[in-house]
Amino acid sequence: MCGIVGYTGYRQAQPILVGALKRLEYRGYDSAGIALGGEKISVYKDKGEVAHIEAGAPRFTGVWGIAHTRWATHGKPTKNNAHPFMDCNGKVALAHNGIIENYGRLKDDLMRRGHVFTSETDTETVVHLIEENYKGNLEEAARTVVKMLEGSYALVMMHVSEPGKVVAVRKESPLILGIGDGENFVASDVPALLDHTDRVISMQDGEVAVITQDGVTLTDVEGKPVDRGFQRITFTLDDAERGGYEHFMLKEIFEQPRALHDTLVGKLGEDAPYGIPIDGVRLIACGTSYHASLVGKYVIESIAKLPAQVEVASEYRYGAVSREHPFTVLISQSGETADTLAAAKEATRRGCYTVGITNILGSSITREVDETIYTRAGIEIGVAATKTYLTQLAALYLLAMRLGTGRTLRPDTARQMREGLRSLPQHVQRVLNNSEEIEKVAKETSKARDMFFIGRNLNYPVALEGALKMKEISYIHAEGYPAGELKHGPLALLSPEAPVIAIAVKDHTYEKMLSNIGEVSARGSPVVGICSEGDRETPKYVDYVLRVPDVPTIFSPVPVSVVLQLLAYYAARERGCPIDKPRNLAKSVTVE
Ligand code: F6R
Repeated sequence: MCGIVGYTGYRQAQPILVGALKRLEYRGYDSAGIALGGEKISVYKDKGEVAHIEAGAPRFTGVWGIAHTRWATHGKPTKNNAHPFMDCNGKVALAHNGIIENYGRLKDDLMRRGHVFTSETDTETVVHLIEENYKGNLEEAARTVVKMLEGSYALVMMHVSEPGKVVAVRKESPLILGIGDGENFVASDVPALLDHTDRVISMQDGEVAVITQDGVTLTDVEGKPVDRGFQRITFTLDDAERGGYEHFMLKEIFEQPRALHDTLVGKLGEDAPYGIPIDGVRLIACGTSYHASLVGKYVIESIAKLPAQVEVASEYRYGAVSREHPFTVLISQSGETADTLAAAKEATRRGCYTVGITNILGSSITREVDETIYTRAGIEIGVAATKTYLTQLAALYLLAMRLGTGRTLRPDTARQMREGLRSLPQHVQRVLNNSEEIEKVAKETSKARDMFFIGRNLNYPVALEGALKMKEISYIHAEGYPAGELKHGPLALLSPEAPVIAIAVKDHTYEKMLSNIGEVSARGSPVVGICSEGDRETPKYVDYVLRVPDVPTIFSPVPVSVVLQLLAYYAARERGCPIDKPRNLAKSVTVE
């Protein structure tokens, strides 16, 4: 969502805050602002990207301050709605991520009491509440005010009467403290801190942090001290930067052999069976993670022979469940997606055993579930999920094997699965080595207004994911369909301007897929066929051929997905789109 940063120390704060904001822009970038402490608090904010703020802001002097980059939820992206906000007297400055759900009522009451609002945001209510409850100690005021708030928040604030102090408080929205020497930091994400320190403390829900030049103190909402040491960040700033690639997304696509390897390493030994009775599995997630779950359903059903159901998190949490599967898997690369977190809470409430699959150590979801499986993709900056998705697939293969262990999974099948998993990184590398071919096809088809992605069986969700990647970064309208469904409606939309991307790997649906390809090319659509290396048939029926290594069918989503990622990437680049930061999207959706 939005990005937050706070600094206090001995150096001029403005360039530090602006630099950190730039590292957070992938979280939101429709407006930004900074507040600097001094004899008075100076605020500069505006609509637009951080570079625009940097160019426009006067040079404030001050060694403490807070800053924010926004992705609008309440109120349009305007200068007035940009953070930080100030109270009526210009003494408190505050920035917020999340949503204050009861802000309407709070705002009415505050206005009745004479407060003047300058924005349409939910956040501004909080700064006025701090103003009313401030009695000489900012963290005390924060503790009082958060008890009045419903919703989710990461809040950072400062008061002119307490120089050098930044106060932070969180509920269901990430905040990380950065420990420096003679200076300290707070930020919504690690990349904002990496220029300055590798020592971090993840704040947890309900905690209040006081950050000064001398140190950081953590307490719970009642003021009881919390004792938690720092962790060292093992990835470098370079990891969080593009490393020579034109875009983070491309870098992250090319990192996939390493990401897969890291996710699988140490996990390919014999599994201990689950010690609980399991008669079915429910998988819950959003977006790309939802597509990984759909692949996971096929994998679990075929390897563990357990019925599996998949639900979009925002539907699950409000759904009437007729029959509950007590074994529930929640997938979220960020571990912070609001709907998935709420679904995890709901699953626990319903008495399920919950397993989280996430890429972020210590993220909120890990505290909601009974067990966490980490993917080891490393930090992903591009808004479009790529390496985190592929590693989710790897985690789901491992989970399916574990679910089958001691039940349906025969030792020889387990051995073959392990071998297959072990060789996935090299198969992905072979797809990457063919990127120029994919680039050519992407250029040929990138003028399209519409695109259809078709697949069958466990490559049907792969088609959905291919379409999602294409639409979110290239802005080509794209839809994924089970190949057998086209004749039930979508064929009406096919034309020479609407290419079809057909996944035709060799499995038991291959022949059917070839007839579906015939159906679409008869309607004049150019067809891109994704087929196995040895396949001589598919090329006869398609306009463009993209080949993937011959892998056992169950693993075919892995190489095919990489082809589709590259196809989307090169199409978007050809169209000049802002690939790492597509319009209207944010990396982590921490509001409902
Ligand atoms: C698309 C994409 C999103 C996320 C979705 C869930 O490329 O990245 O659809 O997959 O917002 O995010 P996580 O996995 O962090 O819960």
